[in-house]
Amino acid sequence: MEKRAQLYAGKAKSVYETDDHDLLVMHFRDDTSAFDGKKVEKLDRKGMVNNKFNAFIMEKLVAAGIPCHFVKRLNDTDSLVKRLDMIPVECVVRNLSSGSLVRRLGIEEGLELNPPTFELFLKNDAMGDPMINESYVATFGWADPEQLARAKELTFKVNEVLKKLFLDAGILLVDYKLEFGVFKGEVVLGDEFSPDGCRLWDAETREKLDKDRFRQGLGSVIESYEAVGQRLGIDFNA
Ligand code: C5P
Repeated sequence: MEKRAQLYAGKAKSVYETDDHDLLVMHFRDDTSAFDGKKVEKLDRKGMVNNKFNAFIMEKLVAAGIPCHFVKRLNDTDSLVKRLDMIPVECVVRNLSSGSLVRRLGIEEGLELNPPTFELFLKNDAMGDPMINESYVATFGWADPEQLARAKELTFKVNEVLKKLFLDAGILLVDYKLEFGVFKGEVVLGDEFSPDGCRLWDAETREKLDKDRFRQGLGSVIESYEAVGQRLGIDFNA
């Protein structure tokens, strides 16, 4: 599938048109950003690591019956995806307290959240991705109520699949963010899944293995992503 004109460049990925109107190429760059794009750095090999990590996870989600934009990995840094009409809302599920939940409620980090929480944020860097709710989504028309209900259902279904996948590798899935879009009338997962968009802790030591290493300046960012991938059985040389 030939890459054509660039359609969009995000903070870490660029999206290209192809000869097929329904299909796009998602190119993973080495750029790493945090704090709504205020901290940006190029990390060597990141594009390749996240592309392969994402392809592995997407294949597990598709096998579990979750509709995904992912079609196939094309090479080290590109994957083929379906063109979705994106819903500008971020869905976050948390199994353990961390990040903005800890700051918002002044609670301890690492508390088990039972049942897991579900939060919505508006995808808007300029506004710092403000927290929203289902009523806002309906009022401002960001998605139909049925579409939002489906996105929520799929976000929790992803939790069931991935919590176990990571735990089997001795890793806790602390929380994650997902975005959805509509493809031919169906709500479809339209996001990457990599250590950039979730929190992963070693189950024994609770060492952080995700983008918090970058946010908090802990070092060994890509080495940690790769170590997680290797524990899951991903071959980054393939
Ligand atoms: O910052 P916060 O604690 O709300 O993030 C919850 C989860 O969502 C984390 O795993 C974080 O990496 C992810 N997230 C993201 N992109 C954002 C906001 C949060 O991937 N814009």
